[in-house]
Parts: sequence; structure tokens; C-alpha cells
Amino acid sequence: MSVNQTTPPVISEERKKITIRLIQAMKRRNEPISMLTAYDYPTALIMDQVGMDIILVGDSLGMVVLGYESTLPVTMDEMIHHSKAVSRGAKYALLVGDMPFMSYQASTSEAVKNAGRFLQEAGMNAVKLEGGIERADTIRAIVNAGIPVMGHLGLTPQSVHKLGGFRPQGRDAEAAFKLLEDAQILQAAGCFSLVLESIPGKLAALVSQRLEIPTLGIGAGVGCDGQVLVTHDLLGLFERFTPRFVKQYAHLAEDMKLAFGEYISNVKGRSFPDVEHTVEMSEEEWNCLIEKLGENNPAFLMHDESVR
Ligand code: KIV
Repeated sequence: MSVNQTTPPVISEERKKITIRLIQAMKRRNEPISMLTAYDYPTALIMDQVGMDIILVGDSLGMVVLGYESTLPVTMDEMIHHSKAVSRGAKYALLVGDMPFMSYQASTSEAVKNAGRFLQEAGMNAVKLEGGIERADTIRAIVNAGIPVMGHLGLTPQSVHKLGGFRPQGRDAEAAFKLLEDAQILQAAGCFSLVLESIPGKLAALVSQRLEIPTLGIGAGVGCDGQVLVTHDLLGLFERFTPRFVKQYAHLAEDMKLAFGEYISNVKGRSFPDVEHTVEMSEEEWNCLIEKLGENNPAFLMHDESVR
């Protein structure tokens, strides 16, 4: 459902911090859950002001902010750095840190330690990781350490080479059956919610009905319990490619090009800065300075040429 909103939503005064219990209660009440990615302080602050339920510091950071070809080069330190900025901005949304490639695959103990860093160092409330049955033990261990885990099935970008590209998943009966099984295994392993990326809408709706935990869909249709998008896609800020399932709510790359272009021509044409953008000193102080410098002082002459 698309809501044609021209003004930001009004947020109640008695606002509560969103917890995983609240997110799960939203599923029981059939109340759609809103989730977007953020990687910096100002974006997180704005999302919090308009009432976003969940903010994900996604490893999409690597592609839309850091300029990598895929999410694979993203490191734990990069994720922690950006997660810290987001948690300084957002006080109400549930904050989820995305575990980057090779931060949880090599060993369970490393996975638990890395998951812990998101909470201990970066102020996140939960972590997300990709994969099905092969991640069940890791998820159990992280949850046992007291860290809530969001799962991620379907198109899992960290397996881009195994999947043969960024392509939709679960399109034949066998793959769809396996995905449903994986979803149930992740729920049993302790995940509090599940991202379903780029899978058929009918399958996502079926998974959402069969699970008690909420599903967050991205390219998975309206039958999920909530929706998530990469913010730079939604804002029209990432021009390299736009997945078919993205709805662009703004065209910020275009707006930025216009703004930067206007700035360049103002600078070249000396129409910026104007008087209102310039700090001045009193005539008295200025005259005093000139007297101090003396008319033939080279420093004064240089300044005199550049301002006139
Ligand atoms: O990294 C990310 O932004 C994600 C979302 C696409 C769910 O995993």
C-alpha cells in the first residue's frame, strides 16, 4: 500500500524506544513495520524524528557509501564506525547492525565476539546475518549470549558469487520449499525477525503466515509483515543501478547536481559569497588596521587588490 504523504508524520509525545518485543507485538496486531538503512548521524536523526520502527546499518554501506563493487570488502571496523554514528542520531528506533562478510562464517566464537561489538561499542540493539540452516548453530550461540538476531534469506548479497549474481531466489518449487524450511529453522534457532530479499510475493506471504516472527520484505511483495529498502535507492542517491523492486521517493542525485552546479557557477561568477554571507569589522577597527599597516605595506596592498 502506498501512502501519499506530503508532510512528515506526527509522532506522539509519549514515544517509547522500539524493542524486539514491540516489533513482535506489531506482527500480532497486523501493524506493518517500517525499516530503512542508515549509515550516518544526520540520516539516523531524521529517520528517528519521523518515527521509523527499525534502522538497519546495512553492509550495503560498502556499495552505496564506500563505493565498493559488492558488500564483500566491508570490514567489522567500517561497520562499527558507521553504526556508532547512527546510534548517536537515533534514540527511539530499534537499531540493527549488519554483520559483514567473514565476521561470522569462520567460527562460532568469532561470530559471538563480533556480534557483541555491535552492542558494546556501537550502541546497536541487535545484529543481522545472512543464511539458512548452515547458520543455525551460530545464531543459537549469538542469541545465547543475549544478542537478538535478525535472519536474512532469499537473495543474500554476501553469497553473490555462489548465487551467480544479484538475481531473484526461490522461484521453483524445490527452492521455495527449501526457503520455507530455512525460515522455520531460523525461527527455531532464535531469530526475532527475518529479512526476505528478492523472492516471489506469494512465497514471502506464505513464509510470513507460517512464522510467528515478523518478516521484513525487500523485493518480496506486500504480504510481508514489514518492508525495508536501501535508503540511497529510495532517495535516488545511488545511480550505479536501481533494482526493479525499488520505489524512488526522491531524486536527490539530481537535486545535488543542480545545487553543486549552481555553487560552482556562483563561485566562478563571484556572486557567492554575498554581503549576508560575509563577516565584517567596524569602520573604526578597519581604519585603525590600515593606519597600523601603513599605506605602502605590501600585505595591505595584497589584501586591497584581492577585495576590490
Ligand atoms: O545491507 C543491507 O542494506 C541489507 C538490506 C538490503 C536488507 O541487508
